Amino acid sequence: MRKLVYYIASTLDGFIAGPDGADPTGPDGFWPIPDDYIAHVIAEYPETLPGPARTALSISAPGRHFDTVLEGRRSYEVGLRAGVTDAYPHLRHLVFSRTLGESPDPSVEVVADDPVARVRELKREEGKAIWLVGGGELAGALYSEIDTLIVKLSPMTLGAGIPLFSGKATFDPNAWTLTDHQVLASGALFLTYDRATTIVTISVTD
Ligand SMILES: NC(=O)c1ccc[n+]([C@@H]2O[C@H](COP(=O)([O-])OP(=O)(O)OC[C@H]3O[C@@H](n4cnc5c(N)ncnc54)[C@H](OP(=O)(O)O)[C@@H]3O)[C@@H](O)[C@H]2O)c1
Repeated sequence: MRKLVYYIASTLDGFIAGPDGADPTGPDGFWPIPDDYIAHVIAEYPETLPGPARTALSISAPGRHFDTVLEGRRSYEVGLRAGVTDAYPHLRHLVFSRTLGESPDPSVEVVADDPVARVRELKREEGKAIWLVGGGELAGALYSEIDTLIVKLSPMTLGAGIPLFSGKATFDPNAWTLTDHQVLASGALFLTYDRATTIVTISVTD
């Protein structure tokens, strides 16, 4: 079974974007991307860079980790507003939406069905891991299906914004095991956590 990986940039206070839902790393964004952060992404996760950035940086490396990418409609629209109908042409690209209707791009599949059922189907297929881009609402719907969290933690706080999980996410405490980490000189951390195996304890009483 392949894994669903929520690979996501977060602030120290757990936000992935500002309250307005705009691209926080875009030309008018507030989220700085230091050089060592970009270098680490290019070296470790080249497939997570959008197509236009890969072209500009002459990156043609295939996916090291992922061959499929999932987005919620509002995250997808960040690219659409910039005129990009498929930000990840080098990956199989699925967008979850009940309102978008026909896909704006023949290589992007719009899925109106239940994301949990669709992700379970995808996991049964052969291939590399499945990258959940976000945003918070789709991640909230897929909370139970996430096997690995890769949090790119930026040394900033927002006070308010779109959280890592939102929408229909419910209170459901889960433990995660740290399996990898990189600390960059700029202060960003790349933290990889696998969902911890549940340990059942049995207490014996008289
Ligand atoms: N920091 C990062 O690394 C990162 C990564 C990705 C995105 N972002 C940011 O996140 C923000 C967008 O996040 P968001 O939470 O507002 O929205 P989102 O999760 O990207 O998209 C929400 C939409 O996804 C669809 N969806 C969600 N749950 C669904 C379900 N159960 N079934 C079918 N469709 C479902 C719905 O589309 P319909 O309404 O069409 O049904 C919903 O309106 C943007 O600001 C973006 O820049 C940040």
